Amino acid sequence: MNLHELVAVVSGGASGLGEATARSISERGGKVVLVDRDRQKGTALAEQIGSQAIFCEADVTSEQDIRSMLDRAYEVFGRVNALVNCAGVVIGEKVVGRDQVHDFVSFKKVMDVNVMGTFNMIRLISEKMQQNEPNALGERGVIINTSSIAAFDGQIGQAAYSASKGAVASMTLPISRELARYGIRVMAIAPGLFETPMFEQLPESAREALGQQTPFPKRLGQPAEFAQLVLSIVENTMLNGEVIRLDGAIRMQPK
Ligand SMILES: NC(=O)c1ccc[n+]([C@@H]2O[C@H](COP(=O)([O-])OP(=O)(O)OC[C@H]3O[C@@H](n4cnc5c(N)ncnc54)[C@H](O)[C@@H]3O)[C@@H](O)[C@H]2O)c1
Repeated sequence: MNLHELVAVVSGGASGLGEATARSISERGGKVVLVDRDRQKGTALAEQIGSQAIFCEADVTSEQDIRSMLDRAYEVFGRVNALVNCAGVVIGEKVVGRDQVHDFVSFKKVMDVNVMGTFNMIRLISEKMQQNEPNALGERGVIINTSSIAAFDGQIGQAAYSASKGAVASMTLPISRELARYGIRVMAIAPGLFETPMFEQLPESAREALGQQTPFPKRLGQPAEFAQLVLSIVENTMLNGEVIRLDGAIRMQPK
């Protein structure tokens, strides 16, 4: 799909990987609908990008929020032909900790945002997308999910996060098979360690050490490098139904 014809909904678009994706799409001539629950950051970014962006405050797990967001997106841009699911949350918690067992509510919260939120976006947006006029290549849309290398080599303390990202990776193929008849592709990116506000929750020394564990390049990934892969997926019609690791060959150790 040509980037000029793109109207992309980017969830988690106010920060980190989503923000970099939104900036890159707009720099290449596409339009973006930033979806995030952080109103302050979302509004500021939309203002910076200008007429090619709008911000919609929404929770990805809410049907009502996402339906209202879509109404607004169609009002302003007339269509939506891409979805980049970046909204997500992370926790670190052991199943059996020193003082207490893994909190059940925190496990459910991570599953709710990362899995239900991703699926809610896909179901409501693909319903609209399948009505698009196909482009010259027969494409009506492209959906890009954000999994994580924790889906495959999750560390101690990542039971909830890994389970959620594994679900995101696993839903990619069956959904791509289902939506193929409409010319909608579905892909996922499994990032390694990227320098974003989410990752900044870790102490500097831990971030440095994790960067050094990456075989090459020996550093954390930059959000712009994630965005670069999103753009490649959008442009390459043959990419469908796959999860791509973007990780400098790192394989996470147990801890
Ligand atoms: N940074 C990394 O190293 C890394 C690695 C692997 C995967 N990921 C995944 O990439 C995605 C983006 O992460 P990031 O590092 O940019 O994090 P981030 O915290 O910078 O951005 C996440 C954004 O999602 C938004 N969000 C959270 N819950 C939401 C909800 N219910 N509704 C709407 N918006 C919500 C937050 O407000 C925030 O703006 C996440 O899914 C994360 O799990 C990140």
